[in-house]
Amino acid sequence: MLSSTGPPAVPERPARVVLVGFMGSGKTSVGRLLARRLGYRFEDMDRRIEARAGRPIAAIFREDGEEAFRTMELEEARDVSGLEERVVAAGGGAFARPETRALLQKGALTVWLRCDLDTLLARIPPDGSRPLAGNRDIMRALLAEREPFYRMADAAVDASAGTPHEVANRVLGLIEGRTRLKKSARR
Ligand code: S3P
Repeated sequence: MLSSTGPPAVPERPARVVLVGFMGSGKTSVGRLLARRLGYRFEDMDRRIEARAGRPIAAIFREDGEEAFRTMELEEARDVSGLEERVVAAGGGAFARPETRALLQKGALTVWLRCDLDTLLARIPPDGSRPLAGNRDIMRALLAEREPFYRMADAAVDASAGTPHEVANRVLGLIEGRTRLKKSARR
């Protein structure tokens, strides 16, 4: 029989954990590990956009331009906002767009994987797969422009140091802490 006063059978968790942050901050590798630990599915917005468009991101930027990509990103954010038990890796620019950000925030725990510029530069492969990854000065400017938006996430986790496993553990600790807090607030 269900009791309205007893503890929930499953601890309360956000329907989605959305990882935001700059290119190279580890959203995909951390996101996969985190999803496995939570028993959630992993969704990579960039890969979903590529699957839907039938082209790599570099080709979308080259052939249709950045605005067309941002529109696809907005549509993708709308789609993932309807999914449950997901860890979502958002593209590096997604949270800087107000409409896309609002969709990503809805009903989710958003976490900024914060990373310093040197670490980011070392991690981004110079293979042209990320059209906005330019030289150091361009990256520094873009990071400075985006940080105020990343700060709008519910929480930030240091992603400069440690393996993806360690970073995933930091995010898990955060989720568990929040779940405990929510439960004790109800008592
Ligand atoms: C972008 C980051 C990329 C991808 C696209 C644009 C950006 O995602 O969405 O190349 O504007 O920073 P990652 O952050 O997953 O590399």
